[in-house]
Amino acid sequence: MQLNYPKLFQTQAYINGVFVDGDSGTFEVTNPYDGSVIAEVADCTPQQAEQAIQAAAEGFKVWSKYTAGKRSRILRKWYELQLEHADDLARLLTTEQGKPVAEAKGEIRYGASFVEWFAEEAKRIYGDTIPGHASDKRIVTIKQPIGVVAAITPWNFPSAMITRKVAPALASGCTVVIKPAELTPLSALALAQLAQEAGFPAGVLNIVTSNNAPEIGSVMTESKIVRKLSFTGSTKIGKLLMRQCADTVKRLSLELGGNAPFIVFDDADLEEAVSGAVAAKYRNAGQTCICANRIFVQSGIYDAFTEKFAAAVQKQKVGNGLDEGVVVGPMVEEKAVQFVEEVVADAKNKGGKVLTGGQRHGASEGLVYEPTVIIDARVEMSVFSEEIFGPIAPVFKFETEEDVIALANDTNYGLASYFYGRDYARIWRVAEALEYGMVGINTGMISTAVAPFGGIKESGFGREGSKYGIDDYVEIKYLCWGGVK
Ligand code: SIN
Repeated sequence: MQLNYPKLFQTQAYINGVFVDGDSGTFEVTNPYDGSVIAEVADCTPQQAEQAIQAAAEGFKVWSKYTAGKRSRILRKWYELQLEHADDLARLLTTEQGKPVAEAKGEIRYGASFVEWFAEEAKRIYGDTIPGHASDKRIVTIKQPIGVVAAITPWNFPSAMITRKVAPALASGCTVVIKPAELTPLSALALAQLAQEAGFPAGVLNIVTSNNAPEIGSVMTESKIVRKLSFTGSTKIGKLLMRQCADTVKRLSLELGGNAPFIVFDDADLEEAVSGAVAAKYRNAGQTCICANRIFVQSGIYDAFTEKFAAAVQKQKVGNGLDEGVVVGPMVEEKAVQFVEEVVADAKNKGGKVLTGGQRHGASEGLVYEPTVIIDARVEMSVFSEEIFGPIAPVFKFETEEDVIALANDTNYGLASYFYGRDYARIWRVAEALEYGMVGINTGMISTAVAPFGGIKESGFGREGSKYGIDDYVEIKYLCWGGVK
């Protein structure tokens, strides 16, 4: 792969400050666009995961004693290096994950922004003084780093989901062991290279690459040294990890699946709603946990919306993410495309009409699925209840505010939701009624380091980003002084 800075192409795991081979050999990483092998990456054993955890425990003794200012400066340097190498990091990301390179560059900037944000927050981890409950008592609270943190990160944001977890952990004085998704380990290893250059001491950040996620996951969850697990991925795996963490009573942050409603009321600005829906649905070929999954449009505006929406969707250039102007790249793997084919077939069988898309893009582009709009969607279809995770937009018609709130909340998930409308009283009512951790109001783009990202119900718990993001990595300790006479 052609990179301006070839050192970013790392294929060894990163344990205790050095790049090392995997004791189980290597596994292949492929380009989802054409299936070509782009790297052979270290396949680590469970014993190597243990070593990484030990290294993190040793690293904690050093890192947690650094002043907040010193940690902040190293984090800042890591952030600057990510921006300096954004072009290379984006190219690497597109090659292993498929998203168009402009979007990949957006992810690199987005990911780096968490490091910048938490480099600043490192200096603001304040405690409280509390009026004592007796005249001779004084009470203060202090916040301390939890300890060694394990992070299991997904393939859909191979860079940003690492920085979003690792930056607040490191800012608060924790150390980390990361297991990146086996489909996309190269972005993680490039971040490790830059972390080494930024000056993190050995053991503070470790990356255990492996083709056997359950094996490494078990080491992490069973370890008594690991005090916290942060996971982004499916609700099914999140529940499993939660059960596995019960025996050691670990702190958990779980950012799990979603089934985002995107509601368009009759009084919405039509053009804005269409462009918001395109952005919320087709980003990353529909493969984000916060992608609009079910689009609900009020009857008075349904025909106008679907016509304009399908026209806008059709205009998107699809193909190889490395090609100029492409906005929808390949899906990540064959089974993801097959799942999308199943939900589209189910929708068609139950009366849905495909306005645009509905098939793979071309014989030579196996994993590229055309951005699809399905109208006359109904609740009996699997697109209503399943997280689609692909470029398929089912559009449902509704009559009243009450109806649509019931439909929107009729899911076990509760991550992101969106709506468009202008009536200010209704805006408040709907925002309060939606059972979701995040609500986009007249916008389809809600992700930012300055806001708390996270869900409720079976979408998980914990918040990433914002002033609240540190809370997931610190323990509050209270000190009670007696005998103050
Ligand atoms: C995700 O899909 O989990 C993250 C999406 C985002 O941060 O925008």
